[in-house]
Amino acid sequence: MTPPALSTNRTLAPDVAQALRTGELDPLVGRQPVDRRDRFLTLLTVYDLHTAPLEQVGDAARHQGHPAVADVKTRLEAAWLAELELAWSEAGRLEEATTPERAVTAMRAVAARDRLPAAYKWLADTADWEQLVDFLALEGGPDGGFDDLVSACQVGLSGSAKLELAQNYWDEMGNGDPDAVHTVLHERLVEAVAMPRIPRGELPVEALERAALGGLLATNRWLQPEMLGALGLLELQAGPRCRLVLKAFDRLGAPAAAYPFYVEHAEVDPRHGKDWVEKAIVPTVAERPEWGPRIVKGAWWRSSVNLGFFASLHLELTGERARPAA
Ligand SMILES: [Fe+2]
Ligand SMILES: [Fe+2]
Repeated sequence: MTPPALSTNRTLAPDVAQALRTGELDPLVGRQPVDRRDRFLTLLTVYDLHTAPLEQVGDAARHQGHPAVADVKTRLEAAWLAELELAWSEAGRLEEATTPERAVTAMRAVAARDRLPAAYKWLADTADWEQLVDFLALEGGPDGGFDDLVSACQVGLSGSAKLELAQNYWDEMGNGDPDAVHTVLHERLVEAVAMPRIPRGELPVEALERAALGGLLATNRWLQPEMLGALGLLELQAGPRCRLVLKAFDRLGAPAAAYPFYVEHAEVDPRHGKDWVEKAIVPTVAERPEWGPRIVKGAWWRSSVNLGFFASLHLELTGERARPAA
């Protein structure tokens, strides 16, 4: 019997998951996703092989480098990167950031573009308790998975940049206090507000893209400059956003155990952002000027993906379309 022809109307993500379970991977070669949602669900399944806990991925992790998986990953990422490049081309003169001073100015300009999306202002001033919990469940914290991303980003760096990423990572680890590790603080928040765990398949496509950006950057060594920019941007923007979450907590009378995760990020991330720029980006661009535009590009990617995510979140929770940030 001849195998079924590669069909273009068949959803790819479940077939990838199934092939990873059975080990029958060759039929995946050349397959295309049916839409952007299918693209990101597929890529997230592949990124799990690289970065998810082994007890979650199981034996499928052995297929991480299989040629058929690499074929799917590379083609889907190429199409996505072409879209990201298009968005970047609209950023104009930011690509001239080939000196540390220009790179810093450009990073700060990108960070200012959507530092406080309308969704956060709505959260602080208007959302009810149920909407707040749903928002936080979708948001997943300002820096979900950040500890592993920082550790992936520092591979091959040296000097001041390496030290800064190590310091940032150690802050994520609660500076050695198991009780203060950021993921532990987030688990306590989840418990304190009875936050629902939203399955990946139910997330809006913009949330899938936002999550997948970390995987794209963490599994492609050649995108290390872009990753340095994307993670730096996250730090530059997290502080004020966390303060608005705290404002919502105060307004709605959140339980005490909900606070530490956002208090920690509201306090520490402004320093993380400043240090990431001054101690990681400045010396890196001074040494490798050609990295400057790419670092800013990575920040722009994260910013653009984030903007899409917060607009969709605002629409989903309020039914109101958010005005684009000025
Ligand atoms: Fe954190
Ligand atoms: Fe941070």
